[in-house]
Amino acid sequence: MSATELAEVAKAMVAPGRGVLAADESNATITKRFAALDIESSEENRRAYRDTLLSSPGIEDYISGVILYDETIRQSSADGTPFPKMLQAKGILPGIKVDTGSKPLALDNDEQVTEGLDGLRERITDYVALGAKFAKWRAVIIIDEAKGFPSDYAIRCNAHALARYGALCQEGGLVPIIEPEVLMDGTNDIDTCFDVSLKTHQRVFLELAAQRVDFTGMILKPNMVISGKGGRTQAGAQEVADRTLELLYRTVPAAVPGIAFLSGGQSAAVATEHLDLMNKQGPHPWQLTFSYGRALQDDALKAWKGAPANVAEAQKVASHRAKLTSAAATGSYSRDMECRMWH
Ligand code: 13P
Repeated sequence: MSATELAEVAKAMVAPGRGVLAADESNATITKRFAALDIESSEENRRAYRDTLLSSPGIEDYISGVILYDETIRQSSADGTPFPKMLQAKGILPGIKVDTGSKPLALDNDEQVTEGLDGLRERITDYVALGAKFAKWRAVIIIDEAKGFPSDYAIRCNAHALARYGALCQEGGLVPIIEPEVLMDGTNDIDTCFDVSLKTHQRVFLELAAQRVDFTGMILKPNMVISGKGGRTQAGAQEVADRTLELLYRTVPAAVPGIAFLSGGQSAAVATEHLDLMNKQGPHPWQLTFSYGRALQDDALKAWKGAPANVAEAQKVASHRAKLTSAAATGSYSRDMECRMWH
């Protein structure tokens, strides 16, 4: 793919009112989500669940791309159509998670670095042949004030790996989603999240530039600037929107076509409201949209519960959630839309 083609794919991923569905949970992660609802994590159940989500009627009006997992990109819909083909037929871009997860950082005490660079060039070739147009790599940055986390060491290692992945993707014809996730699990306040996210973005963009990544052919997938879950004070929605915008304006080049947020453990309604408030202050130099996992899927998974009889209801729930999240991507969401009936 040429630089122009990469930029076109990146733009399509963040087209106004559309965003990305992250359905790329590793088998270990989806097994945890299934277990919470007593659903058996067999290969067929994982396939059936993804089939339910991806074939939700009308979802293509709101979803520009779907991130798949290695197992899922090789699976098919009930009628035998491979998932990447089925998505493309609906005008949805297939994507692929290419990192192999976060592991303990060497000579460190409990921080993490994301692995998956070995053999990545060859895996990218395989994924392109399977129909992938973009990829995702998630770096995890942990805030723990008592332990002095994150260390500069952890930020630098993760930023370096993100840039190596980004360059390999662009060389091989995939648009990289660059995801530096500052976790919201700490007891910190919003100021600490801002400071850590600022440092992280600065280092990530330094590495991306040093490793020749073309900003026009990538998407940034950041956390929002938010209070830690266990923090004594919890910032309100307007403050989250304002501090997140401040972070982006200070660190993200205007050449990046779009920023697609992760939800990171926020409830669906809260993640939607935060995105909406940011877009109500637009236009911005980049499209601001979503690349949510849990905030798009949680209600649909609960409705499905692993039973074929629940497929139609789960699809209604999934489409409705995608519609509200899409409204937030244009700043036209309001809380009362949460309780209205499905259409
Ligand atoms: P959440 O929106 O559930 O945080 O997932 C997004 C994602 O893809 C994390 O890598």
